[in-house]
Amino acid sequence: MDRNEQLAVGRRLLGHIDGRTTDLADAMFHNRVDAYSDRERAARERDRLFRSQPLFMGLSSRLPKAGDYLTEDVAGMPVLLVRGPDGTLRAFANVCRHRGAPVAEGCGNARAFVCPYHAWTYDTQGRLLGVTDKAGFAGLDIGAHGLVRLPAGEKHGMIFVRATPVQAGEAADIDVDAVLGSFVPDFAALRPETYPLYSVDRITPRINWKFAVDTFLEGYHIPHLHRKTIAPYFIGNCGTFDSAGRHGRMCVPRTSIEALRDLPDDERNLRPHIIAIYQLFPNTIVIWQVDHIEIWRAFPGRDDPGRCDIEFTLYRPAESDRPEKHWAKNRDIAIRTVLEEDFPLGERMQIGFESGATEEVIYGRNEPSLVHFHNSIRSALGVAA
Ligand code: FES
Ligand SMILES: [Fe+2]
Repeated sequence: MDRNEQLAVGRRLLGHIDGRTTDLADAMFHNRVDAYSDRERAARERDRLFRSQPLFMGLSSRLPKAGDYLTEDVAGMPVLLVRGPDGTLRAFANVCRHRGAPVAEGCGNARAFVCPYHAWTYDTQGRLLGVTDKAGFAGLDIGAHGLVRLPAGEKHGMIFVRATPVQAGEAADIDVDAVLGSFVPDFAALRPETYPLYSVDRITPRINWKFAVDTFLEGYHIPHLHRKTIAPYFIGNCGTFDSAGRHGRMCVPRTSIEALRDLPDDERNLRPHIIAIYQLFPNTIVIWQVDHIEIWRAFPGRDDPGRCDIEFTLYRPAESDRPEKHWAKNRDIAIRTVLEEDFPLGERMQIGFESGATEEVIYGRNEPSLVHFHNSIRSALGVAA
């Protein structure tokens, strides 16, 4: 958030604390429980949410140098992201043009990718450099058998990829500003490019991917579920909500926000006193913490709507004199709160969704971020209810 926006959010939060209010959605939202469990719905989400629009992949600091690469399975598309010698980040289907083996595994730095099956070799710009046993492939147009390109974009230190190949006549670049819309000033002010990667954790809970996102989208549960952990630091069921197209931003006040009350505007710094939670549609949560950034990305599990794959990354600031144990502690608090409190309950809820006991769940007007998320999903899927 830029300075003026921070001041405005600070005033809104103090007003809510005074009035014991919170930002409200226009109406309650009734969602069918099978949105969390139905296979047809999951297939539709995979096509329309995960395969046909830009997805946030992480901050640029994951791949700072030429040759740095990472691989990831994105809703059934094996993706290879690699920074070329020209500094440009490109995305490819991680599928060999010979017979389909993945040409890279995990992450690292490479000058070229040698397929493990028969050693066809590709450069970091995806071009096929050569095949083994040339006679066996005489006449093959080497120039036309590079890795299949996926659209990618990088700006403000943020990387986006679309997990569907570039179509004929289509640009390979994603316009990141167009994706972020009216949140561009927020991320430009946050300067994600100045945050190196600190840690990566992967989790596969037995919950639908949307529940993993839902859990970050309301502060209503903080005083109850997190009573013994983070609740003393936050004012529960109180927050602001703003949207940018299908994305959302929720700001929740820490109890320490009272320290701002008597300060003039030019001395107010909101950052230590709130947590700002960005929901980047469809599957990413970016949390603007006091001195670092936490990012949660949720993907549907393969063939099971009741499972998901989650990646949690923590990025620390480049300029900081905080000791290593400070970042380790923050990582631990984030992981433990979610793994020991949110997701175990979520797994029980998933069983409830699949039981057929109830037909719907209800998101209240006091949960505007959740209402916006599910309205956005409905509109992207083209479903009425
Ligand atoms: S599948 Fe890659 S070289 Fe054969
Ligand atoms: Fe929670």
